[in-house]
Amino acid sequence: MSPFSKCCRSSWRVQACFSRRHSSLITELMENMDKRSLWDRFYTESSSKTFQNFEWFFGFDSVRDFIMPLLQSSARPDSPVRVLDMGCGTSALGPSIYRSSPFSVHVTCADISAVAVRLMQEKTALKAVQPNNPSSLLRFEELDCTQLDRRYGPNSLDVIVDKGTTDALLRSREGRGKASLMLQQCLKALHSSGSLLQFSDEDPDARLLWLESAARHHGLKGADVGVQEVGQLRGVYYFCYQVTPLAAAKC
Ligand SMILES: C[S@@+](CC[C@H](N)C(=O)[O-])C[C@H]1O[C@@H](n2cnc3c(N)ncnc32)[C@H](O)[C@@H]1O
Repeated sequence: MSPFSKCCRSSWRVQACFSRRHSSLITELMENMDKRSLWDRFYTESSSKTFQNFEWFFGFDSVRDFIMPLLQSSARPDSPVRVLDMGCGTSALGPSIYRSSPFSVHVTCADISAVAVRLMQEKTALKAVQPNNPSSLLRFEELDCTQLDRRYGPNSLDVIVDKGTTDALLRSREGRGKASLMLQQCLKALHSSGSLLQFSDEDPDARLLWLESAARHHGLKGADVGVQEVGQLRGVYYFCYQVTPLAAAKC
């Protein structure tokens, strides 16, 4: 994946400029997007005095129709919908879910990069984003999502969104095993009626096979997997993969 040819138009200009000035970092990052230290450098070097959210591709408006119905189907009168944006970077996706949801949501935006998490915390504190539902909560957390079980027990999340994070791992030299581990951890942490949504530019022929096989490993029985097209951006097609743990998958 070349993030700098496949991200949204406005951030593409920022990134084109960024990549000219920091081409050695970009070259290193492209093959090592599973490495915390490189993401810390990326977010440090790309941040400026005036913070702007950076979307790797597509913003909330392009993916909301995939996310909001899931929130609705997970909503219960007595408890919030528990949402994780896995590998949030400095995307506005998590804060937008928190702001827009008419249902009570507890949104955690998690990333392996402490720098991205700090930037997001600072930005939210400055902007004092108000939610549509007054009992909704938003938090940011430094977390290696290949180790979700250190933070989340079984059945503790209703919706996990992943925009470009699994792609980043799958395309890294040493990241494939980590991508499988992350998927398996998601299936364990999800409620039996919950879902993981992966937004990706990977072709369904390849991603569906990978999802089905990675979901069967390590004591998990598997998952229901579906795909829908999200749309096209500068000649690249993007997809939404929905992964739901099979009832028997819980161990
Ligand atoms: C391609 S970027 C996508 C960022 C954001 N989701 C977006 O759409 O703009 C991948 C993100 O995954 C994060 N990441 C990589 N490995 C991770 C891991 N093991 N756990 C959590 N986050 C990770 C990186 O720090 C980076 O912010």
